[in-house]
Amino acid sequence: MTIPHKLIEILAEIKHVAVMTGAGISAESGIQTFRDPDGLWAKFDPRELASVSGFMENSAIVWDWYNHRRDIIGSCSPNPGHYAIANMQDMFERFDLITQNVDRLHQLAGSNDVMELHGNIIENHCLDCNRKFEEEISPTELPHCKYCGGKIRPSVVWFGELLPEDAFRRAEDAALNCDVFFSIGTSSEVYPAANLAFLAKNSGAIVVEINPSTTSLTKYADFVMNDKSGIVLPRIVEKLLEYKEQNN
Ligand code: OAD
Repeated sequence: MTIPHKLIEILAEIKHVAVMTGAGISAESGIQTFRDPDGLWAKFDPRELASVSGFMENSAIVWDWYNHRRDIIGSCSPNPGHYAIANMQDMFERFDLITQNVDRLHQLAGSNDVMELHGNIIENHCLDCNRKFEEEISPTELPHCKYCGGKIRPSVVWFGELLPEDAFRRAEDAALNCDVFFSIGTSSEVYPAANLAFLAKNSGAIVVEINPSTTSLTKYADFVMNDKSGIVLPRIVEKLLEYKEQNN
């Protein structure tokens, strides 16, 4: 994969980079994406497993699935794409990382202050009063909140729910003000997250897409790299460091 020299020149000059990632960044860690042909939503029903109504209908099935996914995610490690993004955070005057992923692999790779638009799969909270709960949940003994009696649920954002207000406000600010916006490993199908790249583009940012497949963003992106993020991102970091060394 050739990294466009023009992109490296731009990255060496600009001050503020925003990166938004989706499930594709974690694919090389062994975590399934959602909308690829072998993705999770090809096998499972999101209405049943990722909505409040599905959870109210059958909380045991939902907890079974999230416990299973927690086990898988718990056995996975960050890949070179996550590490490259963690390295990028010190290469610019301002760097913002926005993710739709719930797996916390960015944080494990060393990224700070990650804006988690879709929550995380590690924590739980009460459906009714929002208090956080740390304990593991067994689908055979579904726990209720000790304060209000509500059902305890995983802290992921489900379809039809609002995104965490603070994370989304900061993500919008990043998109509106960045010089370069990277859209990495996302199908750009799920809103409002998918809108951030367009917000950045309309605000004058250069948009870079890294994805082996074409998405609805592709034709609006200024640079498109059709390859795996675990291959492309370390090359970008390497080229940028080389360029800076030669030009300083
Ligand atoms: P999708 O499954 O919709 O899209 C994953 C994207 O990653 C696809 O466009 C793939 O082509 C791309 N991809 C696959 N392997 C890749 C690799 N090695 N490197 C780079 N890209 C790769 O996942 P998201 O866009 O993240 O919501 O989906 C958005 C939301 O929909 C998720 O956060 C989830 C889901 O329902 C919630 O859980 C709330």
